[in-house]
Amino acid sequence: MSVMATATGTSPAVGSFYIRRSTRGVPRLRMAVRSSAISAVPPILTKIQKDCATPLPVLRHVSDSMSADIRAGLAVDGGSDLQMILSYVDSLPTGNEKGLFYALDLGGTNFRVLRIQLGGKDERVIATEFEQVSIPQELMFATSEELLDFIASVLANFAQKEGGKFHLPPGRKREIGFTFSFPVKQTSIDSGILIKWTKGFAVSGTAGKDVVACLNEAMDRKGLDMRVSAMVNDTVGTLAGARYWDDDVMVAVILGTGTNACYVERMDAIPKLQGEFSPSGRTIVNLEWGAFSKGLPLTVFDRDMDAASINPGEQIFEKTISGMYLGEIARRALLSMAEEGSLFGESVPKKLSTPFVLRTPDLSAMQQDNTDDLQTVGSILYDVAEVESNLNSRKVVLEVCDTIVRRAGRLAGAGIVGILQKIEDDSKGTIFGKRTVKPPIQSHTVEAKSNNKSNLSQYFQHCNDHGWRLVRTLPQYRRYLKESVTELLGPETSHHIVIEHSKDGSGIGAALLAATNSKYDHNY
Ligand code: BGC
Repeated sequence: MSVMATATGTSPAVGSFYIRRSTRGVPRLRMAVRSSAISAVPPILTKIQKDCATPLPVLRHVSDSMSADIRAGLAVDGGSDLQMILSYVDSLPTGNEKGLFYALDLGGTNFRVLRIQLGGKDERVIATEFEQVSIPQELMFATSEELLDFIASVLANFAQKEGGKFHLPPGRKREIGFTFSFPVKQTSIDSGILIKWTKGFAVSGTAGKDVVACLNEAMDRKGLDMRVSAMVNDTVGTLAGARYWDDDVMVAVILGTGTNACYVERMDAIPKLQGEFSPSGRTIVNLEWGAFSKGLPLTVFDRDMDAASINPGEQIFEKTISGMYLGEIARRALLSMAEEGSLFGESVPKKLSTPFVLRTPDLSAMQQDNTDDLQTVGSILYDVAEVESNLNSRKVVLEVCDTIVRRAGRLAGAGIVGILQKIEDDSKGTIFGKRTVKPPIQSHTVEAKSNNKSNLSQYFQHCNDHGWRLVRTLPQYRRYLKESVTELLGPETSHHIVIEHSKDGSGIGAALLAATNSKYDHNY
């Protein structure tokens, strides 16, 4: 959002206490805002800060519970909040993959299709092309057929434009890696039953069905002759994409519209597998950590938002730390402060009552305001919710945003430490112990190295689904996340943990897994 632009093209008149702008054709609001009017605000703010607090014991409780839930979910299906879903991905890309592969990436309100021409160890990625399409809002509430027909037609259109460096050997079908970023009970690498929709999707007729079969039917209806050779969660796609370049990656975390994590686990550490076999002795497990719920510091606004959601009582960790919800939690807190504490003067700005009107990117932009009179905060409040604010109220707004983002980043860090702790406990000290430090590759990159090659790093996805790339677009989020990892592990150990932002997201990883699981010979 361009915060300084008005719909009418006139410059905003920004005084030291007020912003008066007529944006989007809405009449100007004129409200007397007295600084004394917000005297009831401090106690409400203090309460929010208290309820959102994440001191070390809270972080420790969250990370320990995450480790315990991981173990319980690996022991038996339904053993904990975490489903610990087996991905059936037991071999990751090596760099030897060759040929033309496609990927579909469905996980948020944007849908991506891409193709990649792989040239093996020497040439690696010869070419990629992608297209991103927003999913019309109504399709999030439509039938399974309507949603998948839309996706199949975007794919058909994209496939028709293939040419140039992309080449399919004669007699082969185009193969697809399908990133489907919702909880799926995988039954094989290319089939799986949708458990439930998340992130505001409420499509009818898919839950309980094989998603790949549904997609195949839609492709048939569009006359598209392609084959899904791998269906993966976005965490798994991200891990595979990262592995293509770096053998040491063990964990992938998504912090976007929704949130989730996966990691590489030893088969013999998964009791619920009961004798299943993978040649590598390892497999990737998708935690579905959005459903985690233990020991989370919640406010009345979180509880109200959850109650009003389409999945009450579910995805509580996701609702506390992911991009879809942070703006909404802040909006609810500000509305309450406006109603009970006259935060914005005597009347309550009407638009502030609209659910989801304040979005996480707004929080991000406000948090980056470094003007003396918090102009950006004022402009966003006006543009988004038609709120006229003075400096005092803007300061309060910033405090609220910071409190919510801080809690989210710190809890995400605690969740990551929970996974690391589980791997560490099983490997008896080889992960956190005896490390050499590799210097940062990019400014926000750290990487773990151990002497015995049990190295560990986390990849944070670009989160190409909603444009809510938390780690990238919310620098504060990243800072709080790292701060909590450091608090939990101590400066010495955390110094060896690498937190790297994935460059390619999950789509390329899914195409690579289509290659790894191709039914055709790799050597041509
Ligand atoms: C879904 C996960 C997904 C995550 C990130 C969650 O809502 O349940 O499957 O990995 O969002 O996209």
